[in-house]
Amino acid sequence: MSKQFDVLVIGAGPGGYIAAIRAAQLGFSVACCEFSAYDDPAGEPRLGGTCLNAGCIPLKALVASSEAYEKAVLHLPEHGITATGISIDVAKMQKRKEAIVTKMTSGVKFLFRKNKITFLKGRGSFAGKTDAGYRIIISGQDGDEEVLSQKVIIATGSKARHIPNVQVDNVTICDNEGALKFTDAPKKLGVIGAGVIGLEVGSVWRRLGAEVTILEVMPSFLGAADESVSREASKLFLKQGLNIKLGVRIGQAKLTKDGVSIAYTDDQGSEHTLECDKLIVSVGRTPNTEKLNLEAVGLQTDERGFIPVNDHCATAAPGVYAIGDVVRGPMLAHKAEDEGVMVAELLAGQKPHLDYNSMPWVIYTTPEIAWVGKTEQQLRSEGRDYKTGQFPFAANGRALGLGDADGFIKMLADAKTDEILGVHIIGASASDLIAEAALAMEFHASSEDVARTCHPHPSLSEVMREAALAIEKRALNM
Ligand code: FAD
Ligand code: NAI
Repeated sequence: MSKQFDVLVIGAGPGGYIAAIRAAQLGFSVACCEFSAYDDPAGEPRLGGTCLNAGCIPLKALVASSEAYEKAVLHLPEHGITATGISIDVAKMQKRKEAIVTKMTSGVKFLFRKNKITFLKGRGSFAGKTDAGYRIIISGQDGDEEVLSQKVIIATGSKARHIPNVQVDNVTICDNEGALKFTDAPKKLGVIGAGVIGLEVGSVWRRLGAEVTILEVMPSFLGAADESVSREASKLFLKQGLNIKLGVRIGQAKLTKDGVSIAYTDDQGSEHTLECDKLIVSVGRTPNTEKLNLEAVGLQTDERGFIPVNDHCATAAPGVYAIGDVVRGPMLAHKAEDEGVMVAELLAGQKPHLDYNSMPWVIYTTPEIAWVGKTEQQLRSEGRDYKTGQFPFAANGRALGLGDADGFIKMLADAKTDEILGVHIIGASASDLIAEAALAMEFHASSEDVARTCHPHPSLSEVMREAALAIEKRALNM
């Protein structure tokens, strides 16, 4: 007899494991299958998906180590601290990162046990439907097992997109998998794509001494961010030594005796070759749907490979849902998690709702960049009447004390109703500061609501309040 579940989740990334936990909390019998490309030291498949194994968590560990190194080298003297012989042991830094990943991925296994979620080791694929539920084949190391489930949540995530003429080997030419595992800081690093990964990973190795050149196909920099933030970021990154070339066309990448050479054409049409020790390809990601056998339940992917879903993540097959990177919308861990919670609650008959407009974005550069809601250029193109308030970190005592006074917070609010339409931060701790703005937008707060809220002094959060006050031209400290 096949094992039978109320809910089967395919994939244990942040979308899948959170969906499984929420469904179990709501009283369903839940299983989650995962084949995982990543093994823990005991040879067991690791849970947590891209985010925990080869994305957010390991990358932020490297960001923190490289920032600590750069601070020690460049900024301790400002505090009157003399430290000599500062060096970086990249192998030790990588070990620290691995320990964090192991802790987090083991934590997901603990949460599965705590919530009585059945972990099925293997790749899930559809085999059809019976009255007892969807037939799912779990293909594991010991062969195939068929299980039945009334409801299925597909959370199979995404993988790095590759481009023609650039053969990724994850040793010299790397996507996110190899780029997080370098055993030494490269002397010269090439990066294809000035998006989120390119900027974050490029900044890690720049802080550790690499000469970094980023080759970007688009003629403008960071088009998704607010234009004033992109301008400020461009200025600051250039000052830090990130060499970003816009409007290029990538040609052939070739392995050489010392590393790799990449042919490219610049925005004027001139041809160049970039020689470097390592090359990172970060040109976006594609959804994982191969071998799911979606056809067995009448589903197919759209022209970009995503599984089509409605606002509630329901697919065209009744009782089958899809969440996270494998469906439309931003490829962000918190988006995947929130969709997982939404679907579990829908299955329990609740009426959850997700407002994609109040989902924050963060880029973990120095300084961090974060935003929520609309950019100024979006509001302009929509013909919306809006007001702007902006305040610099340079006028904030806490930022000066921390020695992190670059950047600003900009708030955009409706000209008539004063409802906050967007908040854009470039500055220290933007990843934490943006949560206040996301909460404000979730509650449809006005800029006056934020301006009248008492904020702690001295703190970076005062810059948020001052930006809100600046909307009515009444910032107090400028
Ligand atoms: P995934 O995390 O990709 O998980 C899907 C899981 O499904 C995988 O474990 C896979 O093995 C498994 N799977 C696939 N097919 C099957 C199958 N048929 N059967 C069983 N299992 C299967 N986002 C942020 O919000 N913040 C960040 O700071 C951030 N940093 C990132 C840094 C990098 C380098 C990268 C690459 C991504 C980053 N992201 C970040 C994006 C984030 O990792 C993804 O948006 C998130 O992991 C998506 O979650 P998911 O559950 O949809 O998919
Ligand atoms: P991305 O979509 O952020 O950036 C890709 C960049 O590559 C774009 O600027 C694009 O114009 C450029 N590009 C595309 N094709 C190119 C080509 N042929 N030549 C040169 N440039 C080219 O994708 P990225 O950086 O790979 O990250 C993937 C996803 O992972 C992101 O979209 C994001 O959702 C997620 N992520 C999130 C992070 C965060 O939240 N802090 C951190 C890292 C990744």
